[in-house]
Parts: sequence; C-alpha cells; structure tokens
Amino acid sequence: MKKQIPLAGVIGNPVSLSKSPKLHRHWLRRYGLLGDYVPLHVETSNLETVVRALPKMGFVGANVTFPHKMDVMQFADQVSDRATLIGAANTLIFKDDGRIFADNTDGYGFMANLRQNAPAWDPRSGPALVLGAGGASRAIIVALADAGVPEIMLTNRTRTKSDALRAEFGARIRVIDWVQAGNAIEDAATLINTTSLGMTGQPELRVPLDGLRADTLVTDIVYAPLQTNLLAQAAAMGCQTVDGLGMLLHQGVPGFERWFGARPDVDDATRQAVLG
Ligand code: ATR
Repeated sequence: MKKQIPLAGVIGNPVSLSKSPKLHRHWLRRYGLLGDYVPLHVETSNLETVVRALPKMGFVGANVTFPHKMDVMQFADQVSDRATLIGAANTLIFKDDGRIFADNTDGYGFMANLRQNAPAWDPRSGPALVLGAGGASRAIIVALADAGVPEIMLTNRTRTKSDALRAEFGARIRVIDWVQAGNAIEDAATLINTTSLGMTGQPELRVPLDGLRADTLVTDIVYAPLQTNLLAQAAAMGCQTVDGLGMLLHQGVPGFERWFGARPDVDDATRQAVLG
C-alpha cells in the first residue's frame, strides 16, 4: 500500500494572512520531506467537527491560531502542562491511536528567539516589563517565570486583565497602571511588547520611552512591520533589540519535528522564505 502523505495545517479565522503555511512548506522542501501544510479557515461553530475529522483525513497535526487557541483545549484528549498553565494551545498532535494531544509552543518560541538573537541576554539580570495581558502575554509570562526573571512588571490598558494574571500566576508579577508604564521603564532589564499596538493597520504604541536604559533588551511580538517604532526608538537609544518574526518561526519548530520527523533550523533562509 502506498504510504499516506502526512498533512498538517493551521486552523484559524481569518487564516489567509497566516505565515505558517510558508514556513512549514519551506522546511518540507528544504529537508526533502514528504508532506504538505495548508491554511484551514474554520468558524468557531465548526471547530470540534473539524478537529475530530482531521486525523481521519491524513492529518498528523495542526497549528491553532486566533480565535481558537482557548476553545480547542476542550477537544484535546491530553494537554501538556505548559498549555494547561497558559490556558491555550497552538499546536495539536494527532497520535496513531487517534488521540489528540494539545501543546503550547508560544513561550518556547519567544525564548528561543531571544536565545538565538540575544545570546548574552540573561533573564535573571533584572525585572521584565511586559506590555499587554492577552493570550500572547500569558505564554510569555509563563516562559519568563520559568527562565528565572526575578520580577515581571505587567501593564495593560484593561487593568482587570493584568490583575487576573497576577492572581493566577503569583507574586512575582507586579501590576502597573497602563498610564504609569513609562515610569516603570527605567527599572526594566527587559521590555516586551505583547500587544497588537504598532502592527500595520493598528494604532501606535504610545508608552513614553524616555527612561529606557541602554542596557535594556527590547523585543516586540509584532513582526509586521519587522522594525516597529518601539524597536526603532529603542535601537536609537542604544538598546539591543530583537524583532518578533523569530518567535513565530521558533514556535513552529516543535510541531514540525513531531509531525514530519526532522527538527528544522531557523536561520536567514527561513526568514526570507516567510517574508518573501
Ligand atoms: P493576543 O492573543 O495576540 O495576545 P489578545 O488576547 O486579543 O491577543 O490581546 C491583545 C492585547 O493588545 C491586549 O493586551 C490588549 O489590551 P486590552 O486587554 O486592554 O484589550 C492590547 N491592545 C489591543 N489594542 C489596544 C489599544 N488600542 N490600546 C492598548 N492596548 C491594546
């Protein structure tokens, strides 16, 4: 019998702008592996039907993106500790016995991006200031705490959300009012934008950066544009900056390895493939 071609995809709504198909197809070509990776536009009301059908159609797994990362957890037979802690999954693995395993690799992608592009950065060197308390922020907070960041200063336009994260993730988080974020910047060894502000088509991030120290590492999860105003201003003030594209690329690594059997590299060719 001819071997079935392993399939994977990204489940989202909208999904047409997702860079994941370009990323995984690039890796499949590069490593000469049999397989394909497709965008799957799925309405929330159809999520369960689709997730349960995919393993029966030759899919070995899937990425999950907006707005399904939380909802998809209900349909998993097994959930990783990380995904449980974060409360969301971005990677599904369909096991041979038909069971669905849900994992979250966003925090891994965030840390791997910094390790690759700022190898001298030491998470333990001082507090991190995290802008935003949405889904991406949850994954990043868990990753920072794991990496030994001594304090996480968390600020969000809607304060109740940062308060809720503090209640959930504990005393290492200090909540700061959104309007006070500029005053906390001078204490930050690491500054991370996890909001959508600064993204093409979105409003600008208006946190005043005057207090930023030249030894602060600044990173943004926004990758369109690659150099956000935050990163440009920080670079002009002498800070090391890391753009958000690497997080996207690295979060794809564990899924690709599990689905297609090779651990892919993230390098310039990968960046170009996704940007092109
Ligand atoms: P993601 O999964 O990418 O984190 P999300 O959960 O929708 O997306 O979170 C978006 C983040 O961007 C939130 O922190 C949001 O702040 P609120 O919780 O106050 O909504 C932030 N954000 C989006 N638009 C914003 C704006 N105009 N001003 C300030 N923060 C904004």
